[in-house]
Amino acid sequence: MTIQWGYHFFTGIKNIDQQHEGLVALVNNLGEVVARNAGPGKVDDAFAKLTDYAGEHFSLEENLMLDAGVDAAHVAAHKQAHKQFVEQLHDMWQARDDNPDNTTRHLLEFLTTWIYRHILITDHSMARDYYQRKGMTPPPSLLMTSGSQGQ
Ligand SMILES: [Fe+2]
Repeated sequence: MTIQWGYHFFTGIKNIDQQHEGLVALVNNLGEVVARNAGPGKVDDAFAKLTDYAGEHFSLEENLMLDAGVDAAHVAAHKQAHKQFVEQLHDMWQARDDNPDNTTRHLLEFLTTWIYRHILITDHSMARDYYQRKGMTPPPSLLMTSGSQGQ
């Protein structure tokens, strides 16, 4: 369940990459706290750290897209993906009361899959547009995912 940080995630936009690495670390941390059975207080803390950081990170990405003049359709879809993620995560967190073990595992699976897909598809698409608008050559990690245009 641990997400291995690596070059495949790389956008070449320094603060975005640093925050993605931080985000992955916080997802992994939540997984470890749950696996260790560290207690509800620790799980709550790990979840709060993750959601706070994700909120800050999404704002940074959204501002960067606006500053760089990234395609408006992409910006709208990307912001919607962030918003949906926050809502879905919130709903899943609330639903934990019904069956904590099952729903926490489900939540961690959702988080892991979402982070992988979102960085490699949506954020890489954003980064390719960013480089194109700046007339810069994207790093090879973005060429590896250039066939993916989804959200
Ligand atoms: Fe994003």
